Amino acid sequence: MSDMTLKPLKYKGLPGLSERQLAEHHDVLYAGYVKKTNEIREALGTADLASANGTYGAWRELKVEEVFAVNGVVLHERFFDNLTPGGSKPEGRIAEMIERDFGSLERWQEEMIANGLSSRGWVVLAYDLNEGRLRNYVCERHDQGGVWGAIPLLVLDVYEHAYFLDYATARKKYLEAFLQNIDWSVPNGVIEKYGLK
Ligand SMILES: [Fe+2]
Repeated sequence: MSDMTLKPLKYKGLPGLSERQLAEHHDVLYAGYVKKTNEIREALGTADLASANGTYGAWRELKVEEVFAVNGVVLHERFFDNLTPGGSKPEGRIAEMIERDFGSLERWQEEMIANGLSSRGWVVLAYDLNEGRLRNYVCERHDQGGVWGAIPLLVLDVYEHAYFLDYATARKKYLEAFLQNIDWSVPNGVIEKYGLK
């Protein structure tokens, strides 16, 4: 299993953002997410699969915190990466896409401000592969909403509405039935559609 590495992200000389603020944010917080991602993944390698439980269990805790830690890494890397002293002028494809999907740069900026005031965590300008267009999304907790940038290949619904009529509390029987009914041509289609390697 490959370890996640700490990227030496640039964060100096940004007007309005002090070095002290950015260094604390980058060297302590971001570095902590990288460290914890590796720790969690190492622990998953030896964790007891039999501890899996929807209320509490070692396996569940590790899997939930894995998403929290990985998103902490992914989102911070893009946050630091997309800053440069004094900024630059939007041009090229991103400028065209913003114009196409938001109407104008001004409108997009207004939405970013409104989202920044509305979100309790993050604001993300994303390319939504499902719709083939840009969207501004807010993300409030790292462990909710999946890992940014990861494309779903196979999805399993474990909300009770998905199995309760058939299996009541015997969720494992539903999981076994699910595994017996997978159409693997679908994930293959996604892999082909997006040219995944
Ligand atoms: Fe942060």
